[in-house]
Amino acid sequence: MQKRTIRIFKFAAIAAVPITLFAFSTGPPIKRTGAPVDDGGRTCTVCHTTFALNDGTGGSVAITASPYQPGVRQNITVRVHHPTANRFGFQLTARLTSEETKEAGTFAESDAIQVRCDPTGNAPCNGALEFAEHRQAATAAGQPGPRRFTIEWTPPATDVGPVVFYAAGNAANNSGNNQGDHIYTTKLIIPSAAAIARPAISENGVQNGASYVAGFAPGGWLQIKGSNLNLNTRIWQESDFDGNKLPTQLDGTSVKINGKDALLYYISPAQINALAPAEDTVGPVSVVVTTHGSASATFTAQIQRLAPAFFLFRDTSIAATRADNTAVGPATLIPGVTTPARPGETITLYGSGFGPTTPAVPNGEISTTPANLASTATIRIGGVDVTPTFAGLAARSAGVFTFTVVVPAAAADGDLPVVATLGGVSSPSGPTIRVQR
Ligand code: HEC
Repeated sequence: MQKRTIRIFKFAAIAAVPITLFAFSTGPPIKRTGAPVDDGGRTCTVCHTTFALNDGTGGSVAITASPYQPGVRQNITVRVHHPTANRFGFQLTARLTSEETKEAGTFAESDAIQVRCDPTGNAPCNGALEFAEHRQAATAAGQPGPRRFTIEWTPPATDVGPVVFYAAGNAANNSGNNQGDHIYTTKLIIPSAAAIARPAISENGVQNGASYVAGFAPGGWLQIKGSNLNLNTRIWQESDFDGNKLPTQLDGTSVKINGKDALLYYISPAQINALAPAEDTVGPVSVVVTTHGSASATFTAQIQRLAPAFFLFRDTSIAATRADNTAVGPATLIPGVTTPARPGETITLYGSGFGPTTPAVPNGEISTTPANLASTATIRIGGVDVTPTFAGLAARSAGVFTFTVVVPAAAADGDLPVVATLGGVSSPSGPTIRVQR
């Protein structure tokens, strides 16, 4: 009896070995960071199949790295999180942006980190592609996130131009198998410290982020056009927030308006979208973009107490949705997505720059509860005044006002102008919604 138990146990252990060794105990297989040049950009979802990649349920992976000095070691951080996860893993690789099939620098192994080479073996990789990843003991089994892995990286000895990092993160459920885990991917480009390009704001480069005309309000959206604003292109993600606080920098770029931090939503080489900080000054204010310590020339923009404007889907078509989340617009605007509004239908419009709310939302934070506009806004659809059933910030909104209105029952077919007025200031008169009975 005893012998038999031992034999079964041994057999079970042997059967479990190959998959354990291959899949996890020695770390994930190489080339699963999502780098497009590696096997077409495969990720951990090849095996961790439960959820779609980057599933938008509140988790993320993020890489933090500074501009590099050739040959000078620095620590790279890979942060992995999901609100329900309690075990974490990752894989990271560094490449030349000029030739992504070539590795950039070397990773060091540690108690928490191992470095695997292409096609086999562990560091030193002697010039072969390198993949830094978690050791099993470093997965923090049973601990909630966020989990930060620190990886020591020595950049190439000479300036090789910008370097790109790709990472995949597994925010797992500690099941001991490959199901129920959220997989995220990200990339980060860093410049050589000696070659940080000075950001520049274009002529007329600061505009209202909803209507694209000049002028924005405190707490309102704006967009900045220019050059060398950042090497990366992305919107904010979970890792950029500190509780309800919105990010004041993304990948080394920040924006100051009249000396105060704007809240950053989107960065790219040629455009930034941001939320203006609370501000008592009206009239001309300075706008400065700083990227990796290099500041743009000062741009002078106009800040207005109120700058009401509706967000647009495209050109002059106002962004609007129905309660079932379908989108309003000419059927040809986004084929298969937008359809005209019907007279009598309840729709929601989205706006920026409508001023303070009751209760007030602290500067730089997301609203935690619905907050009504402090002053009354009149909304006119096709020349007919409508009274919104809600006008203000929904819960969990960052400066995006919502207006729930009924399209007038007698509205004519066609593109009807929609204008909001509050405190004597009106939104631009050009934008319309398409109505068809
Ligand atoms: C070839 C298939 C395969 C790929 C690809 C793979 N895994 Fe896994 N992974 C597994 C299997 C099987 C397990 C469970 C068995 C084990 O732990 O060895 C597992 C388990 C894990 C766990 C523990 C999960 C839990 O809930 O306990 C983590 C963390 C993990 N993998 C991270 C990763 C990361 C990060 C990647 C991508 C860089 C990755 N894996 C890619 C097969 C894979």
